[in-house]
Amino acid sequence: MLGIVFTSLIDMLEENVSPEFADDVIVAAELENDGAYTAVGYYPYSDMERLLGVLIEKTGKSANELLYDFGYYLFGKLAAVHGDVLANTEGMLDMLGHLDDDIHVQVKKLYPDADLPRFKVLSRTDTTMRLQYYSERDLFALAEGLMDASADHFNCKLERETHQLATPHTYEFSIAVIS
Ligand code: HEM
Repeated sequence: MLGIVFTSLIDMLEENVSPEFADDVIVAAELENDGAYTAVGYYPYSDMERLLGVLIEKTGKSANELLYDFGYYLFGKLAAVHGDVLANTEGMLDMLGHLDDDIHVQVKKLYPDADLPRFKVLSRTDTTMRLQYYSERDLFALAEGLMDASADHFNCKLERETHQLATPHTYEFSIAVIS
């Protein structure tokens, strides 16, 4: 997993709780590199699972609640560092529709080892979209946070539902832009 995901998680803990809390989480996760991540490095996904496990214990929140909150925060970081990849998008659904063939393609050019999810547009109208998400990491809650933060970025409001599909690691988001 790309380092910016780890550095963003640690930033979130430092900002939203405290630097001491972030340190405690890193120590308790017993990471091989003691939490010394750089934004452009690559690190094992198992580190993220360890950090999440510690956060579940310390906060009492579920993995999906934590991933949602983190997804929301992460969008701000990604948009700040890579705002240019959003330059050609004309709105919320346009952006989601081009995750796979534009936004994450640009990401892959910058970081060839990035391990990105797959998105497929199943249907689309001016205000609605059914979007399929596939990732062996099943980070649909992270995607939900990223989507809600991008709605704020585009100054719109969403109604969303998430359904797990019969195919493993695959989810469908039904999204409506309501304002
Ligand atoms: C500014 C726009 C965006 C940029 C620059 C961006 C970039 C990235 C990067 C760098 C990663 C990490 C890849 C790795 O760990 O190797 C990632 C992962 C991910 N992105 Fe995006 N992303 C953007 C928008 C979005 C949005 C709006 C969604 C919402 C559906 C999304 C869904 C995801 C998910 C769910 C992952 C986690 C990997 C997984 O599911 O296996 N991204 N993205």
